Formats: sequence, C-alpha cells, structure tokens
Amino acid sequence: MPSRISDASEAHPVDLRSGPSDFTSLEELPDSYKWTHQFDDFSFTPVVDSSLVSESVPVIDLNDPNACQLIGHACTSWGIFQVINHGIPTSIFDQTESTAKTLFSLPLEQKLKASRPPGSLHGYGRATISPFFSKLMWYEGFTIFGSPLDHFRQLWPQDYTKHCDVIEEYENETKKLAAKLLCLMLGSLGVGKEDVEWAGPNGDFADASSASQLNYYPACPDPDKAMGLADHTDSTILTVLYQNSIGGLQVMKEGVGWVTVPPIQGGLVVNVGDILHILSNGLYRSALHRVMVNRNKNRISIACLYVPPGNLQISPLPKLVSPSQPRLYRAITWNEYLGIKSKYYNRALSSVRICSPLTGLADENDNDTDVKVG
Ligand code: OGA
Ligand code: NI
Repeated sequence: MPSRISDASEAHPVDLRSGPSDFTSLEELPDSYKWTHQFDDFSFTPVVDSSLVSESVPVIDLNDPNACQLIGHACTSWGIFQVINHGIPTSIFDQTESTAKTLFSLPLEQKLKASRPPGSLHGYGRATISPFFSKLMWYEGFTIFGSPLDHFRQLWPQDYTKHCDVIEEYENETKKLAAKLLCLMLGSLGVGKEDVEWAGPNGDFADASSASQLNYYPACPDPDKAMGLADHTDSTILTVLYQNSIGGLQVMKEGVGWVTVPPIQGGLVVNVGDILHILSNGLYRSALHRVMVNRNKNRISIACLYVPPGNLQISPLPKLVSPSQPRLYRAITWNEYLGIKSKYYNRALSSVRICSPLTGLADENDNDTDVKVG
C-alpha cells in the first residue's frame, strides 16, 4: 500500500487518536511503521551522498560582509542553508537539548499527560502531518506555543520552573536571530523593513511569534524501512533548527534528489517556510525536507518556528510585484493558511496561488511551486 495518502479524510488504518508508541519496548519495526519506500513518490528520487554533490547546502558565516547576498542566493537556489557565528551561545542549545532529553525519557503515561489535544498546536504527540500518511513515523514531538507552564507542571510537578526558564531563554534568543535573518533575507531582495507594514515601529517584527518544536527520533531497529518525519514544507516564515551531532535531515534539491544536511559544530539550519515564499512572490523556495532515522543513536532536534501574527493578511510584498513579476499569491492570514495546510498538505501553496493569466487555471501541475519551491 502506498505510504502516502492524498487526503486526511481517507480511511485510516492506524489509530491516530492514541499517542506515540513506547519506542523503548519495540525490538522490531511493527508493520504500522514500515514504509514501503518504493511506492513513495519522493523516494523514487535518489538519496545523494552530500559529499559527492558538487554544490552542497550552503554554510554562511553571519560575520561575512557578503552574508546578505549569500543568504539571498541560498534562498533562491536551495531554500535552506546553515549559519555559523550566529551569536547564540552553545550553552543555550545544550540546556534546551537536555530539557528535551529529560522530557522524551519520561515514561509514556507521564508524557501523555501533556498530550496535544486535537486541533491544538501545543503539547506532546505524533507528527502533526501524520494524518496524511497510512504509516506511522518513528518520531515523538513536543510543541510549545506560548507558555509551556501548564504542560511542564504536568510533566515535572517538582522542577518545572527550571525547564520553563530554559525554554524561555531559548525562545528569546532564537526569536531575535529569526528576526535578524528575516531582515537579511528581505534585504537581499531589496526590501527594507520600511517596506513591510507589519515590521513595527522599531523594524524588529515584534508582532511575529515563535514556537519551539522539540523533536525526538529514537534509535530504530530497521531504519531503512522507517521514516522519521515525512517530506513537508514548514508553514512558517522561516525555521531555525538546531540538530545535535546526529544527522538525518534531508532536503530535496531540484534536479538532484534528497541531499543530507550534515550537522556542523556550532551551526544552525535555516529554512524558508511557505509564508516567506508567499511574501517573496515565489522568489524564495520553501524547502521540501524530511528526516531519516538511524539504528544506534537517538536523535534530538529543536526548531524555532518563526510565524506571523495569526490574523494579519499576508501577501506578496508590493516591491516584488510588477508587470514582469505578476503577483503569484492571494492575500491570506496565517490562521487561514494553517486550515488550508491541514487539508491540502503539500498542495497548500498551489491552492492559494492566483490563477495563471495564460491558462486561467491554477498551476496545479507546476511542481516547482507545488512542493519543491513551496
Ligand atoms: C520540523 C523539521 C527537522 C529535523 O520540525 O519541521 O523539519 O531535523 N525538523 O528534526
Ligand atoms: Ni520541518
């Protein structure tokens, strides 16, 4: 059976109401976690050894005087890059990783006390994209949007404040970095803060929010048949991801295939999300990415999901629209976009694309904008 199903409303063989399995008790890969990769459309595309690709995911030093241009180039050609010298002390990531490790090591019944309720963005559970697939992912996640206090009190009745402080510090630092990256990304398109209505009086995008996404991919008895996190684009402006020394993240590079994003010491992965793709009028790619698992090591990653205010109308920035660059997307709020994404998944962007003036049809088959660019 294909691992991919086209619509969340299709009959589902796996009960998604329950939380993730207790992975520590599974010595063999259950059928419900076996992905028949040969049927999965994207798995037809070869996985490319990143050391053999002449061009690999760009690594950009934020102290480089050309950082702005390099970032712009990375966003148009890859939609993803890594940054070094980003200014966030490693101790912040060490502490957040340690909180994540403590959280995912709790007994399953304890973690389920902080389960993400249906339709909610916060808490513990399976991948939010699970409903689109007939197979389960080898993955547990915990999303923090707003204060983690209530959930953390459930998880650690004694020492929740310590973990709340760690998350708060992580959020402050990564949110500042995300705003700085957004300025550089827009700057490279010739767009200043003054051209973005919602940049706020100080130009620091103070109304944007960030959510923290803790991801856990336990060591897996049969990694070749399992999937950590299936292919998706992020519904964010941009995402900043810390991956510890264990790799697994891959990005779809047009014309090449899946390319591994290797962990680099002190580096952070930055990817363009669907909202920045819309704001840039399609110039920046929303990176299609996925995560593979491994046999011996538990992998933790921590994402800062940088998102716009929920009710703000997002549309291509006026400076990027002209007779030669017609507007590609209609205005949409982030809240509305999340609803569309939960229905159409990787086709969400094409569903908000303005009809092509040439054909009068939305570019449904334009893969470039459907999944690869966004
Ligand atoms: C995500 C994601 C990648 C990773 O959280 O959206 O793509 O390496 N994570 O865990
Ligand atoms: Ni992602």
